[in-house]
Amino acid sequence: MILQVIKSRRSIRKFTGQPVEDEMLEQIIEAGTWAPSGLNNQPWKVAIVRDAATRKAIAPLTRYSSIIDGAPVLLALFLDTAAGYDRTKDVQAMGAFIQNLLLAVHALGLGGVWLGEILKNKEKVAQIIKAPDTCELMAVIALGHPAEKGGRGSRKGIKDVVFYRG
Ligand SMILES: Cc1cc2nc3c(=O)[nH]c(=O)nc-3n(C[C@H](O)[C@H](O)[C@H](O)COP(=O)(O)O)c2cc1C
Repeated sequence: MILQVIKSRRSIRKFTGQPVEDEMLEQIIEAGTWAPSGLNNQPWKVAIVRDAATRKAIAPLTRYSSIIDGAPVLLALFLDTAAGYDRTKDVQAMGAFIQNLLLAVHALGLGGVWLGEILKNKEKVAQIIKAPDTCELMAVIALGHPAEKGGRGSRKGIKDVVFYRG
């Protein structure tokens, strides 16, 4: 049930050495592509990073380098501004895309974490993986087979979120 998947997803930051099959990655990325986007413009581009040397070059670009060092796969997620039409809506579509990816990772029994702190070095990441000039890094997802359970998770209550009922 989708609600159970949504609520049980936690960020996973430690991974076993077990490799992630290509077929699973395809399923994850395909799930991402079924996200909604304004005018159905689908402005996303993905770099799949398995290569150890490339991961090693990317890791020092974030304070969360140990997560990257321990992950068998990184997905670098880009907004292709060439496909964009409205900055706010394109970025919102990317958020939907990224969340779909994370939910698929969890639904397949894998674990992953959305890394945003690395965006302070987004140009350097783009350079390392030779992203097209029109592509702007929006997030890196580190993923693999989970070697930890993930936190209990805490969220604001509905009362703190809903401010108006008409
Ligand atoms: C935009 C964004 C940026 C994030 N950046 C990082 C990050 O750089 N490093 C990290 O360990 N977690 C990062 N996270 C994961 C959050 O810390 C995590 O989702 C949040 O604490 C809630 O925990 P949960 O995902 O386990 O429910 C990021 C999440 C989002 C949505």
